[in-house]
Amino acid sequence: MRLLSIKVILYSLSIFLLGCQNKSSNTAWKSYSGDASIEAKVDSLLSLMTIEEKIGQLTQFSGQGTVTGPQINDDFKEYMDKGQVGSMFNVVGAKGLRQLQEHALKHSRLKIPILFAADVIHGFKTTFPMPLAESCSWDLELMEKSARISAIEATAAGLCWTFAPMIDISRDPRWGRVMESAGEDVYFTNLVAAAKVKGYQGISSYKDFSDPHTMLACAKHFVGYGAGLAGRDYHSVDMSDRTLRETYLPPFKSAVDNGVATFMTSFNTLNGVPATGNKYIFKDILRDEWNFKGGVVTDYTAINELVPHGYAQDLKEAANKALNAGIDMDMNGAAFIQHLKTLLDEGKVTEEQINVAASRMLELKFLLGLFDDPFKYLDEKREKENTMKPEFLAEALKNAERSIVLLKNEKVLPLASTTSKRVALIGPMIKERRSLNGEWAIQGDRRLSTTVYEGLTEKYKNAKFTYAQGATLTGDVDRKEINKAVAVAKNSDLVIMALGEDFNWSGEAASRTDIQIPLAQKELLRAVKKTGKKIVLVLLNGRPLDLSWEDENVDAIVEAWYPGIKAGDAIANILSGDYNPSAKLTMTFPRNVGQIPIYYNTLNTGRPHDHSDPKDYTSFYLDVPNSPLYPFGYGLSYSTFKYHDAKLSNTTLSANGKVTASIKVTNESDVDGEEIVQLYIQDVAASVAQPIKSLKGFEKLSIQKGQTIDVQFEITPEMLAILDIDMNKVTEEGKFNIWIAPHAEYDGNLMQLNYTE
Ligand code: NOJ
Repeated sequence: MRLLSIKVILYSLSIFLLGCQNKSSNTAWKSYSGDASIEAKVDSLLSLMTIEEKIGQLTQFSGQGTVTGPQINDDFKEYMDKGQVGSMFNVVGAKGLRQLQEHALKHSRLKIPILFAADVIHGFKTTFPMPLAESCSWDLELMEKSARISAIEATAAGLCWTFAPMIDISRDPRWGRVMESAGEDVYFTNLVAAAKVKGYQGISSYKDFSDPHTMLACAKHFVGYGAGLAGRDYHSVDMSDRTLRETYLPPFKSAVDNGVATFMTSFNTLNGVPATGNKYIFKDILRDEWNFKGGVVTDYTAINELVPHGYAQDLKEAANKALNAGIDMDMNGAAFIQHLKTLLDEGKVTEEQINVAASRMLELKFLLGLFDDPFKYLDEKREKENTMKPEFLAEALKNAERSIVLLKNEKVLPLASTTSKRVALIGPMIKERRSLNGEWAIQGDRRLSTTVYEGLTEKYKNAKFTYAQGATLTGDVDRKEINKAVAVAKNSDLVIMALGEDFNWSGEAASRTDIQIPLAQKELLRAVKKTGKKIVLVLLNGRPLDLSWEDENVDAIVEAWYPGIKAGDAIANILSGDYNPSAKLTMTFPRNVGQIPIYYNTLNTGRPHDHSDPKDYTSFYLDVPNSPLYPFGYGLSYSTFKYHDAKLSNTTLSANGKVTASIKVTNESDVDGEEIVQLYIQDVAASVAQPIKSLKGFEKLSIQKGQTIDVQFEITPEMLAILDIDMNKVTEEGKFNIWIAPHAEYDGNLMQLNYTE
């Protein structure tokens, strides 16, 4: 211990002397490399820094590439020269970033490299399906791989930090940001969080991030952002500690357990205290309970927002509250840079607090190896070679095919690729290109996605296509255009309609109270329906929609979401059966907006509805059933699968034991397919009431035509655990219901297990 401190002092001294000699040289950062521990390097560097330079490390400036809120300060160069720019975001490109890094190293006193960040959410240049879509593949390797490819492209373009993954549990489709999530389920999102962190960072532990293809991941938004009142973005959140701990926190814990480097605050208040000033979540939970070592950045100007939240009277007080809550970096808000020094002089914050925050951000720079080579991400040749490689594009196609969910099919699909039918292509999404990437593939070139039209005309060389747009994505009903489309439909053997939401209608600041297909398009659909032609409806949209009318009135529904750069090709492969659909929903589709929030693993009521008496004083709606239109876990295939012969290896499980639950799944069709087999468990009676069922496992299996697979899940006491009344994790004795099922509403093949200690 003593030896170490002597080492640190000597090391600091040598650096100090070097720093004095090299005041104007641009190589002083070299002196911070070498064999000493990162802790020693951080300490020695801190000992050389002025308070202003330390506060600079807590400051992130927007390079203005993408603006998602009020622009506070664009004069970053002046700060750069003073060594006060810890990080920049909304900046990309090896050449431009090299210039910025060179500028910073040349002009700043201590030559601390800048951390370049951006939102790399579902692809960088190669755009992948939006995250909610991709999650419907239930393929964790696929999800990890798209993050890995994104990191390879983005790190080649100068970035070493992404603001992803977004792991907010999302149960309200009015909220536009559900498109960025992995849906409604906790167990599932925990796994996605792990896959994404590994994909971006390349490793699942918080240690060495020096591989040049490593990108720091950022678990966001901490916490509760998905539970905003009435699905309105940025709105207040009120929830019990139980809901917080059972539902909203676990994905973030999973990210920490898998080595995530950074966290981002959320915009919402949580039980009256804005997340960005919330000690309970950042200090008590994230640091003290979970022992998180990395950095915490605010969301965009979120410290400033403590004022309108009514939590701080001015920006200075907001800065004070944010630092005290445990925030390390201020994203584009200028609260820290303008006020921390005064707060320190006034004794409201301590230098130790500033040191702690600065050392976390410096540690990340050391772990990335930026002090050894601040230009490691800034190589134009590498950028060129690693952008949109053929294998990346092939993976984007594979990913898109596996993300598309077949919701309904009355024997119209697949449409043989040799069809000579007269096919009418109708709707504003048929030739739409701009929306196909979805909202958060910011760096993706919107001109590059293949359209539905291109995909279909390429695939169906023999078909006779006719086309009518019929409506615009966002405009009013246009009867003239509708009439033209009806005429085109009348003259066809089959109609394929592509409808949906403009990409700006989901994502940030894009909540809707009406989640039906936009009116003008719905009118178009109704008019085409009147022709009596069979309709295949392809949907491109960012949230679960109310499709009750469509479910009754069209022959097939294909939920394609926003599929990314290979949109048209993937859709054509699905419609033709060249890829047999395998995706299943990770978010419930309600019957109408009035059912929201609706998700599969709710508690039961004391008066469950048994569907008998229309007014029996049980828990139900007068106008629609309680059940959703399409449940969590649901999705069709061109194959048909039968679940049979469910059994438990033992009906009793003891404390150190395990039991195997198994079922046979037979592909009864004459096409090979894939099936996502899901394990659900219910704790029948517990000291705290438990959901009617919870997902505890799943397997995605390829099952050939006629083949039967015996699917097995091991059940351990850990899987039966709940949080008791004191929030301790316990497994309680008693009965458990178990289903191995194709989706969450399936109640067949019930198995019952007893747990005894
Ligand atoms: C605001 C969003 O909430 C956040 O997710 C994003 O990372 C930042 N803007 C930066 O663009």
